[in-house]
Amino acid sequence: MKAITEGTTKIALSDKVFFNPLMESNRTITVQLLNEFFKRPFTAMDVLSGSGAKGLRIANETKASHVVINDLNPNSRELMERGIMLNQLDNVEIASEDANALLSRHKFSQNFVDIDPFGSPAPFTDSAARALLPNDAVLGLTATDTGALAGSFKDAALRRYGLRLERTPFYNELGVRALAGFAVRTAAKYDVGLSVLFAHATRHYYRVFLCTHRGASAANKAVKKVRWLLYSPQTCEMRYGEPEKGMLALGPVWSGKIYELNLFNELDTKLPYFDLHKLYKKWGWKPEKFESIEGKLHAAGFRTSRTHFNRHAIRCDASFAELKEVLSRA
Ligand SMILES: C[S@@+](CC[C@H](N)C(=O)[O-])C[C@H]1O[C@@H](n2cnc3c(N)ncnc32)[C@H](O)[C@@H]1O
Repeated sequence: MKAITEGTTKIALSDKVFFNPLMESNRTITVQLLNEFFKRPFTAMDVLSGSGAKGLRIANETKASHVVINDLNPNSRELMERGIMLNQLDNVEIASEDANALLSRHKFSQNFVDIDPFGSPAPFTDSAARALLPNDAVLGLTATDTGALAGSFKDAALRRYGLRLERTPFYNELGVRALAGFAVRTAAKYDVGLSVLFAHATRHYYRVFLCTHRGASAANKAVKKVRWLLYSPQTCEMRYGEPEKGMLALGPVWSGKIYELNLFNELDTKLPYFDLHKLYKKWGWKPEKFESIEGKLHAAGFRTSRTHFNRHAIRCDASFAELKEVLSRA
């Protein structure tokens, strides 16, 4: 049996169990976020765990007091046992059942639940939200069905998430905001509010971390932040609001903060990033250096940052109209 080391954790691997080395970023960012959020012992469930990789890393590299690693694949258990032995862990429990059945037996009890499926997390989001403690617990959702969430596959977006999405220049952020909004609406029916701690789009996947807030009024507050994002493909204008003629109504999507824990050090804006390449082309303007664009916006009193979502884009706390007016200045 082969073993690799990721972070400071040894992970046993075999051909019979799924393991994607490219998902190291997913596991590492999860460990970082949990270390940032939980300064005390906490419980965790990694219910679609494969080799146990992420759960073992959580057990070994954070303050977790008890971690359940679970996978339906009967070949996973041997790797998980080996992983526990290699890392000499005494805080890990192995399970081998359907993730939804397992989560449903752990109602409102966990500090952290991780959902890392093949494709969409939608079939597991309800039971995951219900397994979390109603206050100060964290849900981690991974989605690899980025085509659906980014608006390329409209039928899939409607079917899986109940969302109306279209392809836009800000598709990566639309995807994480769509996923976050879906999770918020899912948890709200249990009188649990969710807010986004951190969201990112990396390689072929979207990832959101959400925090629970107890009670009907917290749930109402969260749901009010799930809004239509209006977008005009003709002018590239975007803003939140009620559906109106001439604008596509996308979502509804999460319109609140996405970087409460700012792991990538980006400006946290309500609107998605502005794709400068696309905008300058649309406006028929000569391309301008990023630094010069930032200079104009700063001089006008706006804050900006680059974004990991798109290297040609800027995050800015201006509205679309303000951005266009400031950038039109000589
Ligand atoms: C994308 S992989 C997980 C990868 C893992 N988190 C990692 O970091 O290496 C998804 C896993 O979910 C498991 N799985 C699929 N459906 C399941 C279900 N209903 N209940 C439990 N496990 C399931 C598969 O066997 C597979 O190992």
